Amino acid sequence: MEPPDPRIGTLLTSLPVDRHLLRWDLLASLAHLTSLAEAGVVPAPAAADLAQALRRMLGEAEAGTLVPGDGFEDVHSFIEATLTASLGPAAGWLPTGRSRNDQVVTAMRLDLKDRITCLVEAVITLQEALLERVREAVDVLVPGYTHLQRAQPVVLAHHFLAYFWMLGRDTGRLRDAYLRLDASPLGSGAIAGTGYPVDRARQADLMGFAGISENSVDATGDRDFVFETVAAVTGLLVHLSRWAEELVLWATREFGFIGLPDALATGSSLMPQKKNPDLLELVRAQAGVVLGSLVTLAVVQKGVAFGYSRDLQEDKAPVLAAFRSAGMAVAAMTLVVERMVIQPGRMREALRGGHLTATDVADYLVRRQVPFREAHRLAGQVVLAAEVAGCELWELPLEDYSRISPEFEIGVLDAVTPEGAVASKDVPGGTAPARVSQAMESARAALGVQRSWLIQVRVDQQAAVARLLGAAPE
Ligand code: ARG
Repeated sequence: MEPPDPRIGTLLTSLPVDRHLLRWDLLASLAHLTSLAEAGVVPAPAAADLAQALRRMLGEAEAGTLVPGDGFEDVHSFIEATLTASLGPAAGWLPTGRSRNDQVVTAMRLDLKDRITCLVEAVITLQEALLERVREAVDVLVPGYTHLQRAQPVVLAHHFLAYFWMLGRDTGRLRDAYLRLDASPLGSGAIAGTGYPVDRARQADLMGFAGISENSVDATGDRDFVFETVAAVTGLLVHLSRWAEELVLWATREFGFIGLPDALATGSSLMPQKKNPDLLELVRAQAGVVLGSLVTLAVVQKGVAFGYSRDLQEDKAPVLAAFRSAGMAVAAMTLVVERMVIQPGRMREALRGGHLTATDVADYLVRRQVPFREAHRLAGQVVLAAEVAGCELWELPLEDYSRISPEFEIGVLDAVTPEGAVASKDVPGGTAPARVSQAMESARAALGVQRSWLIQVRVDQQAAVARLLGAAPE
């Protein structure tokens, strides 16, 4: 066959976006070679030479001295060309019973396992930083907002813990994606499977996969594992985006709930007085970047003839972009969480003026057997009276309360303070300080579970590499 016209090279090549698969493809190649040698398909001397060359390349790849130059169609062709250059015809044994179609998905799954692990670790670090700030926020009250209008007082620690649990579900989704992609496609060949008696389970074990893929057409023809992973990353960044937006607002002079240290803010090239939250704005923007990647992945795969078609190659850049965005955003958010200056005084002030405890006036009446709708109406009158008097609900004289309903007694004045309001939300998951303390314990326990997952996964991954290097032909 004539070689491809060099003028179509840039469209054809995936090397600029699959170089990072070098290490993973070398590991997978070693596992493939080992199983071919164990099945007696590759003669022992060739297997030994190939294994030695692959080991050497692996070392060089890890040291950063083996870098695929341009001029290859992809990282897989680069590896084959490098082996051929050093071993000659013996290198020709390695492609036996394997196609780049199963090769690329094997390398990508290994790569994604590593990326997911690193991202989960980064999010856990963010959650740990957040739990530190939660500690100092147990005695701080802040307005909870609905419709961006002051709604009801909550404990600041409770508000922070909301993000903790959101992040916990994000890592949960990343781990779910990991669980599903943790299967070796090797042995699927181009589409039909391989014609050699390789032990697929053995290959999987040597690469640290939990199992093998069930169907060779599916394994080579579908990239939903990439989509699912990036979807999980998108979910994380959508959460970070909302949080960043909130902190941008909180850092305004209008709110003043937090201050940003100079090191995490930027100036204006024109206005000398400005201190801008660019960092948080960029965190906010990453959700858009990653969602773009997710849409790319979906649209590129949509309608593609099944099994493998080259369209699938376009999944590389979106993965790189998504994890780059996520890594930067999580790291930036961790710094902000560690270093933002909380302003409890400003939060306290914001609890005034908006009658945030009006619901507690109604709740007080309900406890005295007044039906809620009627209590709601009477509480509305109390709010009106406080407006007229120009005071807070807990400052309104008891006589004004009594004029509205004889059910009100002196205790109402405590019940409608911000402290009284939060104390009354004494249900699991509520903002009563005692419940928040319990929630902090649960959060710590949940983080422990996450950490153990992480440690286990890392141990398994490293053990597999050791197993592989030990089993490969000598
Ligand atoms: N780089 C390709 C991909 O990511 C793998 C190469 C498969 N090439 C082929 N002509 N079947 O899908």
